Amino acid sequence: MKKGVMRPGHIQLRVLDMEEAVAHYRDLLGLIEVDRDDQGRVYLKGWTEVDKFSVVLREADSAGMDFVGYKCVNEGAVEQLRQELIEYGCKVEDIPEGELKGCGRRVRFDSPTGHLFEIFATKEQTGKWEVGNHNPEAWPRNLTGMKATRFDHCLLYGPNIAGTIDLFREVLGFDLAEQVLDGEGTRLAGFLTVSMKAHDVAFIEHPEPGKLHHASFFLETWEDVLRAADLISMTDTSIDIGPTRHGLTHGKTIYFFDPSGNRSEVFAGGDYHYPDHEPVTWDADKLGKAIFYHDRVLNERFLTVLT
Ligand SMILES: [Fe+2]
Repeated sequence: MKKGVMRPGHIQLRVLDMEEAVAHYRDLLGLIEVDRDDQGRVYLKGWTEVDKFSVVLREADSAGMDFVGYKCVNEGAVEQLRQELIEYGCKVEDIPEGELKGCGRRVRFDSPTGHLFEIFATKEQTGKWEVGNHNPEAWPRNLTGMKATRFDHCLLYGPNIAGTIDLFREVLGFDLAEQVLDGEGTRLAGFLTVSMKAHDVAFIEHPEPGKLHHASFFLETWEDVLRAADLISMTDTSIDIGPTRHGLTHGKTIYFFDPSGNRSEVFAGGDYHYPDHEPVTWDADKLGKAIFYHDRVLNERFLTVLT
């Protein structure tokens, strides 16, 4: 049941060297740098996103993800969900307006997998980059790199994904779109959506809490994924796998690493979801095909390198 959560709103990533990270996310991925703050954080967005920013980079001693924020339809929904999160047993922290530049109050909460999440409803809207929403042209002419259109989702690893998936379904109103089950019926992976997208967030069972597998950005076409692969090679960027297709979600994809070791994905296509769709299920013994549909063989690095 929908609870007023609309979409992924932002992700804050820890990076070891800010200017190297900016070169990755701005110049290679093609996100637009929109602001910096007095903590030295850098704010970026994909060109189709109407809100001011969706990616925040913070320089730190270790790579990884600080938090992911989800945007709600209004402040009333945030307040209602805040109460429900407390009743559910989450540790809730109120982050004041302006802590992220241009963003209203946020409600941060913990989860069984050890990740921090946020909900918020208010963020400065700067509109689609350059084209706006009044007689808009097809695309901005001065985009760089992969021309990533939006921050789409992230894949997170941690223990007790059953707990975090329950939290996202029961409190936040996400649907389970796709899953991987082992022979005993235990869920090893869950792909959750709060929209028509194949996934807005995904979880994989893993003993270490709070880990990031990748942050993913949407491209328009398979041709754009191939062009991304060319750019990865041209810039001597560390590549993980691809271009290929996933069985899970059927997206066409490529994975690579930022200079701090955080994995990035750009992808195109993929399945769609309506609330009456039954979850798509993959058996764990088909995991190779589920992850890499063409090779049907798992790449050890893809499963084990996390930040
Ligand atoms: Fe992904």
